[in-house]
Amino acid sequence: MRDKYCGYIGLEDVGKDVLLAGWVFRRRDHGGLVFIDLRDITGVVQIVFSPDISKDAHEMAGDIKQEYVIQVKGRVEKRPVGTENENIPTGLVEVLVKDLVILNISKALPFQLDDEDEPNETIKLKYRYLDMRRPSVQKIFITRSKVYKAVRDYLVSQGFYEFETPMLTKSTPEGARDFIVPSRINPGAFYALPQSPQLFKQILMIGGFDRYFQIVRCFRDEDLRADRQPEFTQIDMEMSFVDVEDVIEVSEGLIKEIYRTVKGDTFNGSFIRMTYDEAIETYGTDKPDLRFSLPIIDITDIFKNTDFGVIKKAIEKKGVVKSIVLKGKNLSRKDLDTSVDVAKQIGSEGLIWIRKDKDGLQSPVVKYFKEDEKLAIIERLDVKEDDVIFMMTGNRKKVNELMGRFRLYLGERFDLIDKNQFKFLWVTDFPLFEYSEEQKRYVACHHPFTASKTNIKQFDGDYETLKSKAYDLVLNGVEIGGGSIRIHKKDEQMEMFKLLNIKEEEAQEKFGFLLEALEMGAPPHGGIAFGFDRILMMLIGSDSIRDVIPFPKTQKGVCLLIDAPSRVSQKQLSELKIRVIYEKQ
Ligand code: AMO
Repeated sequence: MRDKYCGYIGLEDVGKDVLLAGWVFRRRDHGGLVFIDLRDITGVVQIVFSPDISKDAHEMAGDIKQEYVIQVKGRVEKRPVGTENENIPTGLVEVLVKDLVILNISKALPFQLDDEDEPNETIKLKYRYLDMRRPSVQKIFITRSKVYKAVRDYLVSQGFYEFETPMLTKSTPEGARDFIVPSRINPGAFYALPQSPQLFKQILMIGGFDRYFQIVRCFRDEDLRADRQPEFTQIDMEMSFVDVEDVIEVSEGLIKEIYRTVKGDTFNGSFIRMTYDEAIETYGTDKPDLRFSLPIIDITDIFKNTDFGVIKKAIEKKGVVKSIVLKGKNLSRKDLDTSVDVAKQIGSEGLIWIRKDKDGLQSPVVKYFKEDEKLAIIERLDVKEDDVIFMMTGNRKKVNELMGRFRLYLGERFDLIDKNQFKFLWVTDFPLFEYSEEQKRYVACHHPFTASKTNIKQFDGDYETLKSKAYDLVLNGVEIGGGSIRIHKKDEQMEMFKLLNIKEEEAQEKFGFLLEALEMGAPPHGGIAFGFDRILMMLIGSDSIRDVIPFPKTQKGVCLLIDAPSRVSQKQLSELKIRVIYEKQ
């Protein structure tokens, strides 16, 4: 239906006839001529309808509206001097139309496709096919497609084999909530959609494949956030005979390939390293945004003999005092009050601020500080005139977390974040266990198949001190990947289940296949999974994962295009032997 794409027409075509097909993007009528920007996946080209070239085509062009689908035959000409458009690749030429065929018409659209006219998200997702016609959106999905290829090319070059693993699998304890699928042939039994192919990839290593990867859809029934979807894509990898450094090395190569594909440029920065403890103590989070500094500094020791009630009490309860110094910002009283409000909104019981001016430290609480405490603060935090110190005190874990969030607020509020930077950070030495407030017990921090840094068989009862061989890759404050070296021996895996309070019977029922496989020559192995959508979102500079997924779900888990989830027929339910209890609206 065409012999050339719109976006590829250039000076070399001048004088030739071309056959084009595409959508009517913009139209203008000028002095008896009709100008149309004809658009296809490659871009736009200006086509011109003139009664002098074809009376019929010119007449028909009068009826053409936006987003009509047309086919035109015409001669490529240089644009008259002064009418060139340097902003588009085809801007030096135009096509004088001889024949026009209207292939399809279009109703008036619910929103304009111009980029200046961003529709609201509900409309955008309901009419995703229209949104996708916008060149800026097309660019994202074309990039996504190129990244699949880059990932495959790189990993295959590194000796990886691609496998698919089952989508109808088994519900297992630990991790997020599963999406479950009823089995008609086994009434009352359910498959679970995979949260990740974790166990299958370990089995592939035991099967001897050495290096596995898969670009795979994963499903997790979690509360959604800007960087979370109920179904999302992982670049999932596993390698045999490796330790942490081997996985990190291959991963960095992969990330550089992805970066090059998306940005068209080599990533010249370095991958920063930090242990989990360092990240928590200095940035209050296991995914620090390192595009700005603002470290959180522990100044508990300065107050060991303090008379200041709040701090004294906190320290007596083994609490801490943590501070952040905002340099040279000379904050107004209003800014300081706002900071206190923000700290409260974040969940802090109180924020202490101290401003340094020419007369020394100024703050409503500074009168409670001893002289040596003041001097120590100034020296330790290197406080100069116009600097402000923010402090919180209390339980270490809580203060770290709150200060971490407050730090992000300061970064945004005072424009400290260089948005053009990409700060990749490996966070290593994660704890093996973490306490779950919800379940009131220790759970695996990464997952129960993660190897410990030390021999867990010598566990002394203190869950908090054990470190694992787990690592995350963080980009600008977002976790884009995570993995670990795995337990590859049955007795250690059993020990792990025991520490997680998973009874032997349950372990056998849920993971019997793994335990048995671990007894038959399982090699040492480890791996990682990257959040494909998250990486793309970060690299294109978007703040919503929905921008990089062709058919995403809303915050409520709904696909607005096809209106899923939906009720099913009574017949379908009967076949599955399922009775639904509908709650009254
Ligand atoms: P993990 O659970 O850390 O590890 O997941 C790996 C990466 O997947 C991305 N991710 C998500 N992206 C979008 N929406 C979600 N709901 C979502 N959940 C996770 C994150 C995360 O870093 N099997 C292990 C990997 C391993 O040990 O090899 C796993 O799934 O970027």
